[in-house]
Parts: sequence; structure tokens; C-alpha cells
Amino acid sequence: MSETLYYSSDVIQERIKVIAGSINNYYEHKGFQEIVVIGLMNGSFMLMADLVRAMNGIIYVDFVKVSSYKGGTTSNKNPRMQVGVSLPIKNKAVLIVDDIIDTGHSLQTVIKHVRRKHPACVKVFTLLNKPRRREVEVSLNWVGFDVPNKFVIGYGMDYEGKFRDLDHIRLLLRFMEEAPGKTESMDKRPFVNTRDT
Ligand code: IMP
Ligand code: MG
Repeated sequence: MSETLYYSSDVIQERIKVIAGSINNYYEHKGFQEIVVIGLMNGSFMLMADLVRAMNGIIYVDFVKVSSYKGGTTSNKNPRMQVGVSLPIKNKAVLIVDDIIDTGHSLQTVIKHVRRKHPACVKVFTLLNKPRRREVEVSLNWVGFDVPNKFVIGYGMDYEGKFRDLDHIRLLLRFMEEAPGKTESMDKRPFVNTRDT
């Protein structure tokens, strides 16, 4: 398996700055001074921290949670809201932020939940997008990187709760969807310092 996929911390930060510039322009142009930025827990926590620091205007921060992956790497086709929006968003500009859009089911569930509260507008920024995995149509307004159908970890994204703390993004070593049993024999050490996964 010679395919590699690696986004360094610098590359991620640069991309977020560019996208934050575009997001700022959009809301300034539309005349929204206040934006409610809603992250999907847990994967978006690092992205949220970096994004809101690069945003202009008055920023409110909230998090929602959907029951999605059950610990591993299989997507849940029917995710439920576990934690809903806690801030008032009626007539507000809402920006939904996620780490990665895969099948689209989680995001679709969150968009429906948010829209029920009658915000003025709903936009979506995802750092990573796996377009080939899409099962439901969701509109993405800002995308950091389109990625192939491979399981990635780092910068908030986990495998069985691990590796969210990495400042970069890389492939989950040796794990392929076609061979899920392999994860049991996975070597846990080489993730942090090697660049060849
Ligand atoms: P979806 O409902 O299938 O779009 O799943 C989206 C969620 O699954 C993301 O927000 C992630 O939390 C998780 N996810 C999808 N692909 C990956 C991956 O490659 N690595 C880590 N988490 C992933
Ligand atoms: Mg997520």
C-alpha cells in the first residue's frame, strides 16, 4: 500500500486561514455581524478553536453531538441528536463546522435540527470531505480538502477515541475498510513521528 495522505500542521493552518478569509468576506458582504459557530462534537474541537480565532465579527460558539460512529470506522446511517444546540439561533447566521463529511448522514441530521430553530441562514464548513462516500446530498459551502475513501486520524479525528490530539492528519495505518479485522493487530506506536503512512 504505497498511497500516502498527510496534512501537516502548517498546511492545515494555512488552509484554515484562507477559508476563514472567505468566510469573513461572505458574512461581511451579507451584513451579518454576529455568527453562531456550531461544531460537531468531538471531531471538530481543534478546527473550531483555530477557525473562530481567525473569524471577524461577534462570534458565539456552540457544540452539538450526534450518535454516529460506534467506536470504530463504520458510519451510522441513522444518527440521532444526542446534544442539541443550546444557544438561541432564531434569525441568526449559523455556521456548522465539522472535521470530515463521509456519508453525510451526521451533517444532514444536524442541518435538520438547526433549521427547525429558524436561523436566518445556515452555512457549512468541513475541513475534509470524502465525496465518493456520500449517501445523502448535503451542501458544503467551504471545504478544506477533498480526500479519497480512506480512514484518517488526527487534528480532532479519532479511531476508537484515540489520536484526536495529533496536530496533523494522516491515514490510519494499515486499516482498510475491506479488512476491518486488521485493526486488532495494529501497532499503536508509529503514528506520531513517522510520515510514511
Ligand atoms: P458521516 O455521517 O458518515 O458523514 O460521518 C461523519 C463523521 O464520521 C465525521 O464527522 C467523523 O466524526 C467521522 N468520520 C468519518 N470519516 C472519518 C475518518 O476517516 N476518520 C475519522 N473520523 C471519520
Ligand atoms: Mg465528526
